[in-house]
Amino acid sequence: VSLKPYNTFGIEVIAKHFVILPSLEDIHEVLALKDYPKKYILGGGSNILLTQDVDALVILVRIKGISIISKTDDTVLVKANAGENWHEFVLWTLEQDFGGLENLSLIPGNVGTSPIQNIGAYGIELKDVFESCEAIHLDTKTTTTFYKEDCEFGYRNSIFKQHAKGQYIITAVTFKLTTKNHKLNTNYGAILAELKAMNVREPSIQDISKAVISIRQSKLPDPKKIGNSGSFFKNPIVPKSVYLDILNQFPEAPSYPVSETEVKIPAGWLIETAGFKGKCLGNYGVHKNQALVLVNYGGASGAEILKLSEIIKLTIARIFNITIESEVNIL
Ligand code: EPU
Repeated sequence: VSLKPYNTFGIEVIAKHFVILPSLEDIHEVLALKDYPKKYILGGGSNILLTQDVDALVILVRIKGISIISKTDDTVLVKANAGENWHEFVLWTLEQDFGGLENLSLIPGNVGTSPIQNIGAYGIELKDVFESCEAIHLDTKTTTTFYKEDCEFGYRNSIFKQHAKGQYIITAVTFKLTTKNHKLNTNYGAILAELKAMNVREPSIQDISKAVISIRQSKLPDPKKIGNSGSFFKNPIVPKSVYLDILNQFPEAPSYPVSETEVKIPAGWLIETAGFKGKCLGNYGVHKNQALVLVNYGGASGAEILKLSEIIKLTIARIFNITIESEVNIL
C-alpha cells in the first residue's frame, strides 16, 4: 500500500502491511495476531517524514465519536476518540460554545496523536486543556488511563515521545473545557493584531478561532496543496549568554522568556537569517512565508527533505553555535 495519502508531506513510500482500524474490537483483534511482531501506529500523518519503505505493520486508528462525560457549573469533560480529525473536533467544541481549544484551531492531524507532542500554538498547549487519555499497550494489550501528571508534558514533548515511545495506541483523549467564563488567551501579538484587523473589541472564543485560522492560512502552507508537516524543527531553548552573543551580531534577534537563565529563540528566525527562507531545490524546499516549514512541492523523497534538514542544522550550528532539533518524527 502506498502511504502517500496518509502523510501530509505527501511522500511516496510503500507499507508492506497496512490496516485501518475503525473500532476498539478491531485493535484488539489485530494486536492478537502473532504474524506481525513490529507495528507502527500512524495518526493523522501530519508530523512524520517517511524516508523509506516500511516493513512493520502500519496501523491507522480511525475510531470516531465524541461524547460529554460530565459537567459542573462552568466546566465540561469531553471525550473524543483517536480517529477524530483535530480541527473538526475543535469546530465541534466551538459550536457547543465550549472554550479552551480555540487557539489550537486548524492544526493538522488527529485527536489521538495530539498528546504525543503536546501540540501547541498561539499561547496554548494541549496540556492546558488535557484531562486524560486512554491507551492500549502493544505487548501486554492492557488499557491504561494516563492523567496529565502521568504524561510528562513539555514543549512539544511527552512520555509518548520519550520512554513510552512506540509502545501504545492512544484510543481516546478527554479534555476539560469551559462552558462559561471562558479564559481568553489573546496575549500572542499576532492574535491581537488579527482581532484588530477584524474589528473585534470583545472577542468570543469563536472570534479567536477565526483569527487563528486566518493567521495560520496566511503563514502556513495548506498540506492539501503543498506537502508539509508544519514546523519541521523545535524552537531551541538556549542559555541567555548564547542569546546575548547573537544579539551582539544581530540586534533584532527575537526571543521568548523561558526561565531566569534561558530563552527560546524562534528557529524560523535562525533559518531565515541563515538565508534558507523560500529556498527551492527543485521539487522541495523551505516555505516562503515561514522558514520553520519544509515543503514538498510534489515528488520529493523523504531522504531529500531529511538531507535538507541536516544541511540547515549544520548551518545554524556554524553561524549561531546553536543545535536545533527536528520536531517531526523521522521514520
Ligand atoms: N520568524 C522569522 N522568520 C520566519 C518565521 C518566524 O523571523 O520565517 C520569527 C519572527 O520573529 C516571528 C517569530 O519567529 O515573530 C515567531 O514566529 P511564529 O509566530 O510563526 O511562531 P514560531 O515560533 O515560528 C511556533 C510553533 C508553531 C505555532 C506558532 C504559533 C514551534 C516549533 N512552532 O512557531 O507550531 O503555530 O508558534 O504559536 O513551536 C507546528 O508545531 O507545526 C506549528 C506550526
